[in-house]
Amino acid sequence: MSEAFSPKHIVVTGGAGFIGSNFVHWVAGNVPQVHITVLDALTYAGNLENLEGVPGDRMDFVHGDICDAPLVDELFAKADACVHFAAESHNDNSITNPAPFVRTNVEGTFTLLEAARAHGTRFHHISTDEVYGDLALDDPARFTEETPYHPSSPYSSTKASSDLLVRAWHRTYGVAATISNCSNNYGPRQHIEKFIPRQITNILCGIRPKLYGDGKNVRDWIHTEDHSSAVWEVLTRGRIGETYLIGADGERSNIDVLRAILSEMGKEADDFDWVRDRPGHDRRYAIDSTKLRRELGWQPIHTDFAQGLRQTIEWYRSNQQWWQGAKEATEAKYAKQGQ
Ligand code: NAD
Ligand code: TYD
Repeated sequence: MSEAFSPKHIVVTGGAGFIGSNFVHWVAGNVPQVHITVLDALTYAGNLENLEGVPGDRMDFVHGDICDAPLVDELFAKADACVHFAAESHNDNSITNPAPFVRTNVEGTFTLLEAARAHGTRFHHISTDEVYGDLALDDPARFTEETPYHPSSPYSSTKASSDLLVRAWHRTYGVAATISNCSNNYGPRQHIEKFIPRQITNILCGIRPKLYGDGKNVRDWIHTEDHSSAVWEVLTRGRIGETYLIGADGERSNIDVLRAILSEMGKEADDFDWVRDRPGHDRRYAIDSTKLRRELGWQPIHTDFAQGLRQTIEWYRSNQQWWQGAKEATEAKYAKQGQ
């Protein structure tokens, strides 16, 4: 194991989004001596409210674009590490309009890597298990760090591209980089375009939940707080140049997750609509996180999915002002796609 790295000042890109903001709260709550600069463009998915409660002396917020090279350069000159969450993150959006995905996920990562190269900044890249493509439902295999890349969608192919840039900048220029590829996150403050919050907020609005295809697709769910603790372990104790898969053994079919939400919210098991499948819909994702657990001793703490789901439902019930403004437009977009 390499010596622990103790950053004093980190740039967190995409820190006003779902997982990035959770990471900022996690660091502010668990690591006293680190200052955080959030760099976020506040796209439709970014929300400053997500950072409420983070003490002002622990964090400053910069409203800006990761493709803005002079701005990124100025921020990297003052920091000793970057944790890079910023991305266009939704598969369905990438199918209807892939251009912002190529720009932010590929060009944006390139821009950050160039600044990391210029300033010797430690760089941790947040990625997804979707870079590996999908597994068959009856395949006993799970993804490992050795699984070949085989992305299916514009989203996952741009994430795969960004991973490859990080690897090349490490090997060619010696950028001190690590990568983590995580499975599907759930928890509070996730945008309502995503599966779990879409169904919860549909029910709260009296709209029937929508299930794609045959509902048998499997996702490997992890609570976003467990993702945050794993990222911190990789940033501070991971080996430079390495990739770590992050997962919490949470494989579940979409229909099982939907039925759990329906039951928890007092609805019947068939109170939902079957809708048009996503083109190129990946069948199953599953993570083997042995390397992370063995090398860094990481373990998830949110291992009770039913409880995590209950708390997530409660969060959306108690924070309707957070999501109501986006609901109509989000559903109108889906309706146009027959979803
Ligand atoms: P999100 O869409 O909720 O948040 C993305 C954030 O990035 C937003 O705050 C947005 O304003 C910001 N952003 C977008 N474009 C930007 C730009 N050009 N410059 C600066 N900021 C920009 O996404 P998320 O679900 O929190 O995902 C965060 C990261 O985690 C992404 O890299 C994603 O690929 C990865 N990831 C997500 C999941 C998941 O289940 N959601 C799983 C594994 C990995
Ligand atoms: P999503 O949250 O978009 O995450 P990802 O595509 O990154 O896995 O979707 C999770 C799963 O839920 C995926 O198999 C697609 C499915 N899904 C539905 O069945 N209905 C929906 O309304 C949405 C948004 C997703």
